[in-house]
Amino acid sequence: MNAPVLPDWLAAVPRLTLGHLPTPLEPLDRLSAELGGPRIWIKRDDCTGLATGGNKTRKLEYLLADARAAGATDILTFGAVQSNHARQTAAACARVGLPCHLILTEQVAWKHRHYSSGGNVLMDRLFGAEVHIVPVADAADVTQQLTERLTASGRHPYLIPAGGSNAVGAIGYVRCAVELANDFARLGIRPRNVVHASSSAGTQAGLLYGFARLDSHVSGVLDSHVPATRRETPVSVLGINVYHERPAELARRVQRIAEGLATRLGAADLPAPAITDRYRGRGYGIPTPAGVDAIRMLARLEGLIFDPVYSGKAVAALIDLVSVGQFSGEDDVVLIHTGGTASLAVYDNAFD
Ligand SMILES: Cc1ncc(COP(=O)(O)O)c(C=O)c1O
Repeated sequence: MNAPVLPDWLAAVPRLTLGHLPTPLEPLDRLSAELGGPRIWIKRDDCTGLATGGNKTRKLEYLLADARAAGATDILTFGAVQSNHARQTAAACARVGLPCHLILTEQVAWKHRHYSSGGNVLMDRLFGAEVHIVPVADAADVTQQLTERLTASGRHPYLIPAGGSNAVGAIGYVRCAVELANDFARLGIRPRNVVHASSSAGTQAGLLYGFARLDSHVSGVLDSHVPATRRETPVSVLGINVYHERPAELARRVQRIAEGLATRLGAADLPAPAITDRYRGRGYGIPTPAGVDAIRMLARLEGLIFDPVYSGKAVAALIDLVSVGQFSGEDDVVLIHTGGTASLAVYDNAFD
């Protein structure tokens, strides 16, 4: 595979190499045949190489570089008890030798006897992170006490927001947009839709900004090998909301982070974020029947594993959107596999 062409404005941003990048972009031939729609491609960000992989590796490459530059001695971050972001942060911290403190909130009503000790939490502990599992209402106080304790002992804690989603972490997904543009050029395809699970907004914001910036500035990367008639439509990024009770809140966050990226990296003609809320089900962390069916289907058809909290809901969405003709007339659609399979062990009862 050719090394990705990296624009100077992105190459200049400090980054630690943590991931196995670029990840493969692979066709899902058996799924595509089964659905009878466009050819579906999968971007294997479940293979990013840090602690069973997932989308947080890309963000942490930039966040930990920023933490280093800021002289951080400790990393603090946040998430739900089974946060994939927390697990990947703990692994990244182990890799670079920084103490990691995780504040995990009890916000998911999923019943499993190992929910607070297995899956991601087991790995958090294996990576040596200090794990604080607290009620949602206590998170702010625990964070303040921890920050004060560390500061009083002369340390410099660096706070990473939940999901690693700010304008630093999201640069990881700007880089993913560039990677995808290079994949498209190499493969001679021009997908117009990229679909993925969206929650804390950094993944979607990075992709949104990245494709907008590429379309307006380096169309040569996107358009080589592509017939002129198919160059006009920019890539649209569809976020499958798996978290927010009010999807407008997700859109607002995507917009805000994308604007932060424009401030840091340069202007781009940003479209409004595209989000659907039809596949979230009863709420964050609660599997849906369609998500569970989609996980079974992809396992049997493609030998791939997804999770019921994030990526499985995205697959369910994609299957439904193909079935209702959303992508009719399109040749290629891309699903980003954002990872999440580390939580499967505490969701085995969803498959009973
Ligand atoms: C497996 C997985 N997929 C998707 C997402 C959503 O990414 P983002 O938080 O950047 O919207 C997450 C974030 O927690 C995740 O863990």
